[in-house]
Amino acid sequence: MTKVNRFKGFRNQKQQVKTGSGRKMSSTKWLHRHLNDPYVALAKEQGYRSRAAFKLKDIFEKYTDFKKAKVIVDLGCAPGGWLQVLKEVCPRSVIVGLDLKEVDAVEGVDLIVGDFLEEEIYKQLEQLIGDQKVELLLSDMASNASGDKEIDHFRNVELIEMALEFANNHLAIGGNFVAKFLRGKEEEQLRNKLKQSFKTLKLFKPKTSYTDSSEVFLIALNFKGHMLR
Ligand SMILES: C[S@@+](CC[C@H](N)C(=O)[O-])C[C@H]1O[C@@H](n2cnc3c(N)ncnc32)[C@H](O)[C@@H]1O
Repeated sequence: MTKVNRFKGFRNQKQQVKTGSGRKMSSTKWLHRHLNDPYVALAKEQGYRSRAAFKLKDIFEKYTDFKKAKVIVDLGCAPGGWLQVLKEVCPRSVIVGLDLKEVDAVEGVDLIVGDFLEEEIYKQLEQLIGDQKVELLLSDMASNASGDKEIDHFRNVELIEMALEFANNHLAIGGNFVAKFLRGKEEEQLRNKLKQSFKTLKLFKPKTSYTDSSEVFLIALNFKGHMLR
């Protein structure tokens, strides 16, 4: 099949998306935005697998100490944009990526395919990490949008809580945790939990993140080494 470069010249030219009879309005809107998104074109131009790469670049720009991390875990890493950025910024670090989906290899990165919420996959990650302490735990995990913001929020909180559980067991004292968060009802409870375990908690909205999206990143700094249950 011939590959068509749909992104060529997109920054100056608005693409029209037809609403097919079988296509939902929400997915049409998503596609329209995606096709006209300058960061999608930029990612393509710069060889990144996803526009998400720029979110991590923004985070690293602000939290410059993150590049010192020697052991990094990237949860929800497919298709691998963050992994590419990590390899650029921390070329000598141990990097492990995990996702439900297969990810094309990134040189020097260990990959696990499976559901992080499943015990077996969680254990696989623990085995791979072994005795090493993780210094930077990243989670960009997001379930497919359900169309219901509240459901998406609760699913997202579940993923963050599982990542926190992992942090509790494997994050180095002084280590940092970054998680994609879809804001909603559980925010206060989640923030309180994080504040008990980390010295500092910030919310960060990368410029790449859509302004009308509830997405922000929780930046939890300086793990204290314990977690209230
Ligand atoms: C926004 S994408 C991540 C993009 C990635 N950071 C990048 O730079 O390319 C969210 C990812 O989270 C993954 N995900 C969602 N739930 C998951 C779970 N329970 N276990 C593992 N991965 C999960 C999805 O498969 C999806 O690939």
